[in-house]
Amino acid sequence: MKKPIIIDTDPGKDDAIALAMALYSEDIDIKLITTVAGNVSLKKVSYNALRLLKYLEREDIPIAMGACRPLINPYKDRFNEDASSIHGESGLGDFEFEEPEKEPLEINAIDAMREVILESEVKVTILALGPLTNLAILFKAFPEVKENIEEIIFMGGSINRGNLGVMTEFNIGTDPEAAKIVIDSGLKVTMVGLDIGNKARIFLKDLEELKDYNKSTRLTYSLFKDYKGMDKESAIKVYDSTAIAYLLKPDIFKLEYTYVDVELRGQYTLGCTIVDLDNRLEEKPNIYVCTDIDEDEFRKYFLDSLKNCI
Ligand code: RIB
Ligand code: CA
Repeated sequence: MKKPIIIDTDPGKDDAIALAMALYSEDIDIKLITTVAGNVSLKKVSYNALRLLKYLEREDIPIAMGACRPLINPYKDRFNEDASSIHGESGLGDFEFEEPEKEPLEINAIDAMREVILESEVKVTILALGPLTNLAILFKAFPEVKENIEEIIFMGGSINRGNLGVMTEFNIGTDPEAAKIVIDSGLKVTMVGLDIGNKARIFLKDLEELKDYNKSTRLTYSLFKDYKGMDKESAIKVYDSTAIAYLLKPDIFKLEYTYVDVELRGQYTLGCTIVDLDNRLEEKPNIYVCTDIDEDEFRKYFLDSLKNCI
């Protein structure tokens, strides 16, 4: 039976490719996509989600708009930036999409998630690819939904260094308080952090070879051909796709059940994830953390998944 999932996202170039991989997986049934301010503004990420579903021919999936700013930090204040320097002003570079016909749902993301979760006959898995603001509000407003949630898998955090602050990863750093609420939710939570994405690199030459294979490979090449996040070996870190890969191919990951907390006060470390693999804090483990990935297996899976899309 297909696993019912909700994807909470802030597209974003890597979100876009992760969505394509999820949309055409035979193993999951995407019930709802919710949007959250992150890479770019809520308006832009929501427009991007609509454009992506139109382009990927899946306008059957509803989109609901969520939080336009983090719980506490006014959006784009602490680091005074969204991620448009990486993803482009639009959030999806300058790719030519057709205008979407569909609009987001009238109801907001929190109410939409509550409805989908409570109506599902099978416990729902939530895949979070952006700041965790929507999930935090959901758990505070409607804690009863936890009964029908299978697990939360989020792309975010870092065992080691950050990409927003010295030690702070973008999704968690944008809304640290929301991340703490999700990590302390008592649900089965799995963190797929930067450490994984920094290893699971895709090479531009792989994308160039596939660029005319289908619509999804054409989009992927276009989004990443001049990606600011590319390293000196022309390797691209497709962070959000590693979270989808964990959901669909967990056997290529190494996992540890450990204690994780979020720094909420540090002058330099606000929003960094404290992943206590050596149990120095002597706290009981609270979430699962991906600590390694088979890079070759991931690269093969990533490219095969894109070929399996339209
Ligand atoms: O730090 C990487 C994360 O921040 C990814 O989800 C990317 O899309 C941005 O949201
Ligand atoms: Ca994202």
